[in-house]
Amino acid sequence: MITTAKRTEALAAEIKSLAARKNALILAHNYQREEVQAVADYTGDSLELARIAADTAADIIVFCGVHFMAESAAILNPGKKVLLPDPTAGCPMADMAGPEDLAAMRERNPDASVVTYINSSAEVKALSDVCCTSANAVKIVQRVDARRVIFVPDRNLGSWVQRFTDKEVILWDGFCPTHERFTAADLAEAKRLHPDALVMVHPECNPEVIDMADEVLSTGQMVKFVRETDRAKIIVGTEEGMIHKLKSVAPEREYILPSKALVCPNMKKTTLEKVHAALVNEGPIVTVDPEVREKSLGCLRRMLKLS
Ligand code: 13P
Ligand code: SF4
Repeated sequence: MITTAKRTEALAAEIKSLAARKNALILAHNYQREEVQAVADYTGDSLELARIAADTAADIIVFCGVHFMAESAAILNPGKKVLLPDPTAGCPMADMAGPEDLAAMRERNPDASVVTYINSSAEVKALSDVCCTSANAVKIVQRVDARRVIFVPDRNLGSWVQRFTDKEVILWDGFCPTHERFTAADLAEAKRLHPDALVMVHPECNPEVIDMADEVLSTGQMVKFVRETDRAKIIVGTEEGMIHKLKSVAPEREYILPSKALVCPNMKKTTLEKVHAALVNEGPIVTVDPEVREKSLGCLRRMLKLS
């Protein structure tokens, strides 16, 4: 009888050999399923994956993440075929900002620069001055040449940034539904059950949760943190896929997910079967309109230069 573990192993081996034959690079975000992270050439946060996608010599990039990530790879490296194994894997936060509303906001604030979180569409990036990720948002806002900044679309990351700058940060009213479901009451209960644990949370969490944390970190910064800390027990306030990644880099520590609601349904759409099918079919391909690409490229390049 073939067990599920054996089937997964065989499928992973087939994916690896197909990727090698087709000169394809597999990138996976830290929130992906454990078996998808295991088959990737690189796992990382949005900034790390964007940098790798911009520099790769591979012919194909298989992006195991959500649409804006694959789209950013297609903008940064237009000669490549960028595949998104499940074309419906989107980001509800990115969908909360549209180009028309942003154009109107710009008109109302002509002296402000627009700093846009990478969790956004190419059309919104095209209307922005500079992009950022959760790893570099504070640095980018500080370095941008304006006293007033429109921060799009994450109000939680924007208000986190506001704590570190004298500049005026004008918040867009967007948020991540997954992090928003994680409440201060959930975290209080986790702290009560594990009083000896350190608390790290993602800046997409709401401000009440952030106020209760010891560390506020992007997913890539969380990886670095657990490699270096001597704390044995850590409450991880972000999407549950992160726990797999942390266990793979520092298995000696105990990680606690403080809420069952910390699951991003879109991140979980990518399965090994879909990665395999994407490689076989060389699709679904993510493309960007050339004019939009040209404008959004400036926004992404300025981020890579400033960070
Ligand atoms: P980072 O991995 O860049 O911290 O971002 C988290 C995220 O929400 C991706 O959707
Ligand atoms: Fe979007 Fe939140 Fe999912 Fe990240 S975790 S892809 S911000 S919905």
